[in-house]
Amino acid sequence: MGDPEIIIREMTEEDIPEVVKYEQELFTDSWPEAVFLEDIASLYSYPHVLHVDSELAGYVVLWVAADEGHLTNIAVAKKYQRKSIAKKLLSFILRLANEMKLAQINLEVRPTNTPAISLYEKFGFEKLAVHKNYYSNPLEDCLVMRKDTTGHIPA
Ligand SMILES: CC(C)(COP(=O)(O)OP(=O)(O)OC[C@H]1O[C@@H](n2cnc3c(N)ncnc32)[C@H](O)[C@@H]1OP(=O)(O)O)[C@@H](O)C(=O)NCCC(=O)NCCS
Repeated sequence: MGDPEIIIREMTEEDIPEVVKYEQELFTDSWPEAVFLEDIASLYSYPHVLHVDSELAGYVVLWVAADEGHLTNIAVAKKYQRKSIAKKLLSFILRLANEMKLAQINLEVRPTNTPAISLYEKFGFEKLAVHKNYYSNPLEDCLVMRKDTTGHIPA
């Protein structure tokens, strides 16, 4: 057995049932199918999935407006967590940002989501602001993080 084959490609409609299943497993305030359909249809959205040996292991969504990117979603199936899949997805997004010459990427995260915050900090995202009572189910503030991607050359 060789190394597993890892592929990142654009999300398609066929991926959505599985993506929504993972959403429900991974988030208390999961997004419905309609959000991902919009992601696929929008010219401003770049939704991607990562497969390990043809099994969907994670997904990521970047929205772009002018020279700003907004990371709206990143998630990894429980069985694939802590195997550097999120790092691969985020590295991919930074390469995309570089190709599109984006100046910055913003994101929002629950302040209690230590794994995600740790991931973002490893990639140079900085804490920028807190919005009070932003999330529901459960009600929680949101932490805004930003990475300056001007002239960023990803590894
Ligand atoms: C956050 C998440 C995407 C990380 O995915 P992952 O593939 O397990 O992450 P990786 O294996 O690539 O780890 C990257 C870094 O994230 C951090 N991290 C990941 N899981 C962690 C955990 N359970 N505890 C603490 N830090 C963690 C670490 O800094 C890690 O770096 P290290 O391996 O050098 O320690 C995953 O836990 C997830 O899908 N969570 C549910 C969905 C979610 O909250 N998404 C973010 C919404 S803002």
